[in-house]
Amino acid sequence: MKTIFITGASSGIGKATAVYFAEKGWNVAATMRSPEKEEELQKYPSIKLFCLDVEKKETITQAVQDALLKFGTIDVLLNNAGYGSTGIFEAADDREIRRQFDVNVFGLMDVTKALLPHFRSQQDGLIMNVTSAGGRVVLPITSLYHATKFAVEGFTESLAFELNSQGIRVKLIEPGVVLTDFSGRSMAFFEDDSLEDYKTYSRDLLQKMKQLSSGGFPPEIAAQEIYQAAIDESNQLRYVIGEDAEEFIALKEREGAEAYFQKVQQMFS
Ligand SMILES: NC(=O)c1ccc[n+]([C@@H]2O[C@H](COP(=O)([O-])OP(=O)(O)OC[C@H]3O[C@@H](n4cnc5c(N)ncnc54)[C@H](OP(=O)(O)O)[C@@H]3O)[C@@H](O)[C@H]2O)c1
Repeated sequence: MKTIFITGASSGIGKATAVYFAEKGWNVAATMRSPEKEEELQKYPSIKLFCLDVEKKETITQAVQDALLKFGTIDVLLNNAGYGSTGIFEAADDREIRRQFDVNVFGLMDVTKALLPHFRSQQDGLIMNVTSAGGRVVLPITSLYHATKFAVEGFTESLAFELNSQGIRVKLIEPGVVLTDFSGRSMAFFEDDSLEDYKTYSRDLLQKMKQLSSGGFPPEIAAQEIYQAAIDESNQLRYVIGEDAEEFIALKEREGAEAYFQKVQQMFS
């Protein structure tokens, strides 16, 4: 029986993926900041909950140790935990800038590092990092979020070489808009009232961003695609999920960054 270790399994894509893998007969180490609040996942005998906050290294070490004790091995790591900083860059304070990178980038690196000795010892393992179409293309007023997702894309792509020497594979999961509460609970909107010049622009853009993220596909679809990626033995690196993601990425690749900028500018004007 194979085992997947998931971060951010309390909701959305992480939770749907935990359920989908359990239904496919996998063991699931479903990690989250507050496992005591989780009820639905408790019902599945092959899902075990572990406390893990990607900002707290000691919880990462403990969760990996406990999951290995429980399941014996871990075959797949799904780095999924993340949130979206939203707002005008000039309005972001140092704390928010650093927190966005702490959660989406450094947290992901810490979890990866905690599992690598195990994967290396078994000369096998798969790391799947959930970035976003936003790790390849950008939208306005989310510069910090895109910076983190682009960072994870570059990190993962380079990591593939050295981990290949140890029998470990990496994959990038790049969803478009998924119908989770990401644009609610996981969107951290910041503004600075003293920055009058941006006020109208920032508010208008936020409204348009919310409209854009009201579409999308259910997290169960993302879970199915993640499962297909996990059982895909090929060396495919990127898995784009959703027509919107495919369209935006194709637009930039086909027409170039400048044409992409013009199109997005028109979309939001
Ligand atoms: N929804 C989309 O449209 C979309 C599109 C592309 C990519 N993504 C990516 O998909 C991933 C999951 O997002 P989602 O849509 O499923 O949103 P979600 O339902 O809001 O889930 C976000 C998850 O991240 C967890 N998390 C946040 N900070 C954490 C921390 N410090 N330590 C551990 N866990 C933490 C949350 O846990 P708590 O319950 O403790 O807050 C929650 O489980 C994110 O990386 C996101 O960037 C989402």
